[in-house]
Amino acid sequence: MIDDAIQALRKGQVILLYDYDNRERETDLVVPAEFTTPQIVYQLRRDAGGLMCVAIDPVACTKLGIPYIVDVLKYAGDSGNGFGAIESIYEKVGDIPYDSKSSFSLWVNHRKTYTGITDYDRSLTITKLADITKSALNGNKIPFGQEFRSPGHVPLLRCAPNLLKDRRGQTELSIVLARAAGVTPAMVMCEMLDGETGKALTKEDAKAYAKKHGLVFVEGTEVEELFKKMQSQN
Ligand code: 5RP
Ligand code: CA
Ligand code: ZN
Repeated sequence: MIDDAIQALRKGQVILLYDYDNRERETDLVVPAEFTTPQIVYQLRRDAGGLMCVAIDPVACTKLGIPYIVDVLKYAGDSGNGFGAIESIYEKVGDIPYDSKSSFSLWVNHRKTYTGITDYDRSLTITKLADITKSALNGNKIPFGQEFRSPGHVPLLRCAPNLLKDRRGQTELSIVLARAAGVTPAMVMCEMLDGETGKALTKEDAKAYAKKHGLVFVEGTEVEELFKKMQSQN
């Protein structure tokens, strides 16, 4: 199954990525940013319905200076500028029920978008994020703000430096898969929600969706096995 996921990502196909029974218990639709089209953005918002984000490789994040949003909040809270709301939020940072640290970063729009929310605008922002990730990994020094403005309509997720050794979210799981597939490690993801109950789609229903649409379903445990193999080869 993991090999099928890798093959699918290489072809630019959407896959289903479930995390763990002891974490969020959520399935995300995931696709490499470089292959994203307005039609794929439509599929993700219609069939998944959660928040559409882009996870970015940690090496690229460091080169581009893409921060965790909690670090920005700390900086703003410590600035003495009277941002009381931010200070009081930061006092409780890490207070999330399913993990110890959020991977959220900036929210961005590409500068050539208009509002940033349409399928066309989000697709443009997403593909340009893939371009800048690839370019940064190739050693080019492009100022991030030359291409993107913030706030925007595409949330970035900063992948943890040591991937699954540090954190086990779809942020890290998807970047492990991207590296294994050899695609640009900038990955779009959107949580699958149940239109009837309003809750996260169950694992069983996510598998049924995958079967109906001929898509690959993969779990965190399988990605973790792959990650261990990749580590032992390094
Ligand atoms: C952004 C999220 C999603 O859950 C996404 O899967 C990434 O988060 P994580 O790495 O924590 O699983 O919250 O919409
Ligand atoms: Ca998740
Ligand atoms: Zn989430």
